[in-house]
Amino acid sequence: MTALDTLGCCCLFGGWRIYEMPVVSSTNLAAAELTSWEALRADRQTAGRGRFQRGWVSDEGGLWLSAVVPTGPNPTALPLAVGLAVCDALRFIGLQQFRVRWPNDVLVGGQKLAGLLIDQFTPGLAVAGIGINVFNHPEGHDPSLKNQTARLADLIAPPPDLLQLTQVILSNLRSVVEQMHAHEFRSLLPRINQLWGGPRRVELDLDGDIRQGTFVGVGEEGELLLLDDSGNKTAFHAHQVRHLKEVN
Ligand code: BTN
Repeated sequence: MTALDTLGCCCLFGGWRIYEMPVVSSTNLAAAELTSWEALRADRQTAGRGRFQRGWVSDEGGLWLSAVVPTGPNPTALPLAVGLAVCDALRFIGLQQFRVRWPNDVLVGGQKLAGLLIDQFTPGLAVAGIGINVFNHPEGHDPSLKNQTARLADLIAPPPDLLQLTQVILSNLRSVVEQMHAHEFRSLLPRINQLWGGPRRVELDLDGDIRQGTFVGVGEEGELLLLDDSGNKTAFHAHQVRHLKEVN
């Protein structure tokens, strides 16, 4: 018997088995024991995990969801595909003005609405962790987040409830991942390259080697495309880019 058997309640929706729990340390860690097309949503996380080993404030009222999907042949492009699925879901529920900062931060007016963390604990399976501020108050738990975060309750009337949002995201995620596996990542490319809101001046940290240029989107394998000041375009694979900072 696992922790999910004892604590989680479970429902089936659109090809997913969805577990719900009141509190976990991190839904990504708890989802390590799930299999493809299973997902876990928690009301609260006590040790939510962000990218770059940062924490992620996960107070009640936000969407803290982890979904297990097959990695397929191009796992490095999966974070971009998950970002697309989340953006499709946000658009479906009525959000209009947002953009994505590479690889998959969803921003509204420069403030962070959603963050994604993809983990791999089992060969062939990825845990797609999705955090969206909905009714919660992250700045109440971490004052440094004041004016840094956006939440759906301030952007959409009426805001979606967490179950509805979970279901819309999971159905988009399944269809995007299945399309990627059936027709390759490049079939998603036109939709993904519309998410960035146009070319943007950036600084890349390539493991200590700093490069400046203009981010112009991603290529057919999901590689980041940087146009330098001499007009040369270079492709960088996600694992080469430790950090991307947008600069003015
Ligand atoms: C980021 O740093 O932008 C990524 C944040 C990812 C947060 C989500 S919330 C659900 C899942 N569980 C976690 O511990 N992290 C992800």
